[in-house]
Amino acid sequence: MATTEVRISPEDVKQAASLVKERVSEPTVVVIFGASGDLTKRKLLPALFHLEQAGLLPQQFRIVGVARRKLGNGFAEDMRQGIMEFGGVESGADKLDQFVGKIGYHAMNFDDNDGYAGLKALLEQHDRDFGTGGNRLFYLATAPDYFADIVHRLGAHGMAKPEAGTVRVIIEKPFGHDLESARELNDDVNTVFAENQIFRIDHYLGKETVQNVLVFRFANGIFEPIWNRNFVDHVQITAAENIGIEGRGPFYEKAGALRDVVQNHMMELLSFVTMEPPASFAAEAVRREKVKVWTSIKPLNIFDCVRGQYGPGIVGDQMVRGYREEERVDPDSQTETYAAVRLEIDNWRWAGVPFYLRAGKRLSARVTEVTIQFKQPPMLLFGTHMYGPCSDIEPNILTMRIQPDEGISLRFGAKVPGPQMALCPVVMNFNYAQAFGSSSANGYERLLLDAMLGDATLFAHRDGVEATWALFTPVIEAWAKKYPQTFPNYEAGTWGPECGNELIGRDGYAWYGVQSTAKQ
Ligand code: BG6
Repeated sequence: MATTEVRISPEDVKQAASLVKERVSEPTVVVIFGASGDLTKRKLLPALFHLEQAGLLPQQFRIVGVARRKLGNGFAEDMRQGIMEFGGVESGADKLDQFVGKIGYHAMNFDDNDGYAGLKALLEQHDRDFGTGGNRLFYLATAPDYFADIVHRLGAHGMAKPEAGTVRVIIEKPFGHDLESARELNDDVNTVFAENQIFRIDHYLGKETVQNVLVFRFANGIFEPIWNRNFVDHVQITAAENIGIEGRGPFYEKAGALRDVVQNHMMELLSFVTMEPPASFAAEAVRREKVKVWTSIKPLNIFDCVRGQYGPGIVGDQMVRGYREEERVDPDSQTETYAAVRLEIDNWRWAGVPFYLRAGKRLSARVTEVTIQFKQPPMLLFGTHMYGPCSDIEPNILTMRIQPDEGISLRFGAKVPGPQMALCPVVMNFNYAQAFGSSSANGYERLLLDAMLGDATLFAHRDGVEATWALFTPVIEAWAKKYPQTFPNYEAGTWGPECGNELIGRDGYAWYGVQSTAKQ
């Protein structure tokens, strides 16, 4: 299939960036609870250092890691390693020493009141020594069981609403494990913090390509008029991963694909693809439209939700074990590592358009993308009598490639040169890296800076979290009542179980981009 690239000169990129006002954070102390975990080292510290490199952090900036282990100064050095390894940073990089010098550590148990008193004293000392002005950004990166307790203790020790400065709290996912627990957690957090202090993070919203869905739709005049039931035939969203559970057995056993990825990341993506244009790009306006679209989704039919679990197989050229053989996983585990869902949005824009979502671990490739198939023209002028190299008329397809090959492509039919009216599908392609150059950003940069600036546009509101849990809780409950007898039902390294193909196949479609090698 022929392709065409979009090219943008480096001068254009620079000029576009220079037109946007720089958003530098206020003086702040970022306090990371659960700082000895992977997230801090792999994502948060590299992202904060990227902000420092870009000149978006003020001089009066500090980081305090909080965890149970007594790490002392070793913590800052460990973070230096993380910044280099996961942030694409060279060892002698400009500003690195200075940045590492701003990293401190406070060892405490999350249920130890003395520990909170010590933390408070440390933060006040930072205000005096480093001019951080009483501004705090608490980041809860612990296991979810601790969230409510930490929040209550921060409140009890007067750290949620201090006299000077601004206090905000970022809460990692998973935010609850069903509707009831999400409501409880919201109630807990809301008794201590006001809603405008709370930032429920979903790192998918930090991805450039996810934010670009809104730009694509609402900054261009030509797509929105056809972005509806009159022109769209169906939509597919895939979040496939070739990795397994990466040593997170106990977490994943309780989560499963539906809770881990579909209820949050995929729903966020779906909302950007389907929401109405907001009245402005302000937090309230954007979040209101997302909630509207989630609450317009028809209750899920249990027959439209299927699950799978990987067995051993070959990923790339490596033999990998099955889910039940992973460390700290029940050998009879019924947890799903693959989920696919068919849903419909019951509103004026989307009524009757099916949406197919699938997510899974140990699939054939890592790829997240949204594919929109448009309806065929009302009359096929170039019919079957037009023979040529590709005589089939294929529908137009718009693919938004979220990762890893970030970009957007549009497939359309073109005439093959020659004396006959032969048609062939061709692709017009926009590739992020080619157009703008590649970047080592991991998505947390934007979200951390937004939180420091108090901009909640790319964070979840309590109503939104509850709306998505309301949708999936009945499925989770039904699945818990009746375990499938067929697990494991797909081989690692394939495109998932046959039930995933049947789900979309029932409507006469197939997943795009799938070379199915699934086990029957
Ligand atoms: C996390 C999930 O939220 O998202 C992981 O807990 C998953 O299981 C990850 O691997 C996927 O994120 P990304 O950015 O790698 O697509």
